[in-house]
Amino acid sequence: MELTYPLFDLAEAQTLAEFLASEDWHFHAGPHQTLASAHARIASGEFDGDHDRTHWIVRDDERVGMIHIEDLGDGNPLFDLRLRAGHRGRGLGTAAVTWLTAAVFGEFPDLNRIEATTRQDNVAMRRVLVKCGFVKEARYRQEWPSEGGTRYDSIGYGILRSDWGMGVTTAVNWEDGP
Ligand SMILES: CC(C)(COP(=O)(O)OP(=O)(O)OC[C@H]1O[C@@H](n2cnc3c(N)ncnc32)[C@H](O)[C@@H]1OP(=O)(O)O)[C@@H](O)C(=O)NCCC(=O)NCCS
Repeated sequence: MELTYPLFDLAEAQTLAEFLASEDWHFHAGPHQTLASAHARIASGEFDGDHDRTHWIVRDDERVGMIHIEDLGDGNPLFDLRLRAGHRGRGLGTAAVTWLTAAVFGEFPDLNRIEATTRQDNVAMRRVLVKCGFVKEARYRQEWPSEGGTRYDSIGYGILRSDWGMGVTTAVNWEDGP
């Protein structure tokens, strides 16, 4: 299996719009995209602005997913990762986060940390983050509204350059409060 992560180009807007509209994304705000709404998001610069970029996840010449990295070069980047349903649970998410962490720290030497937030019940994403060295840093209670009316907690993770460089995870200090 060969995995590559080519940069999205605006000339591929239709392909990206079709990808976003091709299925529901239950763990995302706005889980149902239409071609029109996806095109509007792409045209707004959301996926390739000054501090944003998007990479395809290509498995053996097939576009099976995407990674959208935000706030690059402007603070602490965070990212969104999506795989087509038929390609989940086979290690591609873990491979993608491993790749993007090295790519971002490698290209932006001044960036000290990368962040990710996911819904409390997104077990697969939470496992991926932990496997890739991200540490749970926050729990935002009832922060994530859903279509059904349930308010889920969102869980914040981060990885430090120093941890990544040494292949370790350092614990958060929770004991400093008054
Ligand atoms: C979340 C996502 C990126 C994870 O990628 P993936 O390729 O499916 O995950 P992996 O195959 O690398 O699995 C990583 C771990 O998660 C576990 N896992 C995978 N799918 C799971 C599921 N549905 N339920 C519970 N655990 C799951 C795996 O067992 C593995 O853990 P282990 O090594 O301890 O066994 C992918 O499932 C996806 O695109 N989901 C829909 C979009 C989404 O939710 N994106 C995240 C938004 S924040």
